[in-house]
Amino acid sequence: MVTSRVAVLGRGVVPAGEPVLRGDDRGVLHGDGLFETMHLRGGEPWLRDAHLNRLRAGAAAIELDLPPAGALVDLIDTVRAGWPPEREGALRLVCTRGPEGGGPPTVYATLAEVPAAARRARRDGVTVATLPLGVTARARPELDWLPVGLKSTSYAVNTAARRWAARTGVDDVLWVSTDGYVLEGPTANVVWLSGTTLGTVPAAATGILPGVTAGWLLDRAPELGLRAEERLITPPELHRADAIWLTSSIRGLAEIRSLDATPRAPSPLTAPLLTLLGFPRPPRRS
Ligand SMILES: Cc1ncc(COP(=O)(O)O)c(C=O)c1O
Repeated sequence: MVTSRVAVLGRGVVPAGEPVLRGDDRGVLHGDGLFETMHLRGGEPWLRDAHLNRLRAGAAAIELDLPPAGALVDLIDTVRAGWPPEREGALRLVCTRGPEGGGPPTVYATLAEVPAAARRARRDGVTVATLPLGVTARARPELDWLPVGLKSTSYAVNTAARRWAARTGVDDVLWVSTDGYVLEGPTANVVWLSGTTLGTVPAAATGILPGVTAGWLLDRAPELGLRAEERLITPPELHRADAIWLTSSIRGLAEIRSLDATPRAPSPLTAPLLTLLGFPRPPRRS
């Protein structure tokens, strides 16, 4: 993602190449910070308030002082001002713990064009492999000291998994717990269709990120005559599902067209789900 705009709290828009963090910022030194990525469509941040609510919940969990909601909304509005409405944007809001030794949080927003790969994944689907994460499904939320479900800037594990995917020749991965349950992808939740039920993995029970996109879809499942369900699922059960998707704010929905090298037929539900997410139906490649 090539950043084309940056705005800093209290400074407004700055040149995209200008530094916005100090060298001793704890966001850089320790990955001690939070972020949100929103999809900009028609110039507006899609589901902005749901993202801001998740950011606030995460900040409370790690005792990070966030600026008031109004200041964050102003920052979002500053970075997106004048963005051409016909261009999809990826708007990131970043809030770190700020410099070592105390100091205010560092808060800034970036805006970039949605990468072609994300649009391609939405249109054509993705190939996915399962990858062990080395923890049981419920291990993390059972630790009362460990805040979970945060969109933390500590994404080194997530990027390692994406590099593994690239080396292995798949588009993405789904992490699997040591007790055999599918959790989430490094940048996406998993949603599946079984009969007339749309399912996803419970976030509170597993400590995965409670996805804004998956939440929106499951809340609206009845509009498509479907029931919504949160439950743990194993890879063999997932293989038997009628359809599987990765969900995330920028891609929206990417159908899994191959899981662990087993090809899957395209689902007729992908287009209605994309419509439910407010995306125009993508033209199929001939
Ligand atoms: C680890 C992880 N899980 C799930 C998601 C999907 O969340 P959302 O739909 O809120 O973008 C993301 C998004 O980047 C993520 O990084």
